[in-house]
Amino acid sequence: QRRYYHEKVLDHYSRPRNVGTLDKSDKSVGEGLVGAPACGDVMRLHIKVDPETQVISDVRFKTFGCGSAIASSSYLTELVRGMTLEQAAKVKNTEIAKELCLPPVKLHCSMLAEDAIKSAINNYYKKNPDVKPTSLAGREAKLETATA
Ligand code: FES
Repeated sequence: QRRYYHEKVLDHYSRPRNVGTLDKSDKSVGEGLVGAPACGDVMRLHIKVDPETQVISDVRFKTFGCGSAIASSSYLTELVRGMTLEQAAKVKNTEIAKELCLPPVKLHCSMLAEDAIKSAINNYYKKNPDVKPTSLAGREAKLETATA
């Protein structure tokens, strides 16, 4: 049986963007490490976050998996760079699958990317317990200036 992949998948697969790792001993780097139980494929994602703005300033991935998983993670890195943590936490695998025109049988590969960004964000918050989501931080800043 022949399978045809969309050219976007082939493009990301043959020229993956942002492959690599960041220094995870750095407090501003969050790591996501997730696996797909169905196939055993694994994805690792590192995000570097600006503590002031909570914007993702850098992002790297390593995926040991199928072509669709590699394409999903490559596209994800382009998507979340420049997003705030809150925005990135809302990225859905369906958005990735749609962009890459993944067939239903490959949906779980894009799920790996959604899990990876969620896991990296959680890890960042765990490493920085004093950092709160920006909406809350904004409110607190306003309170502080009001009471100053
Ligand atoms: Fe496992 Fe694609 S087949 S992630």
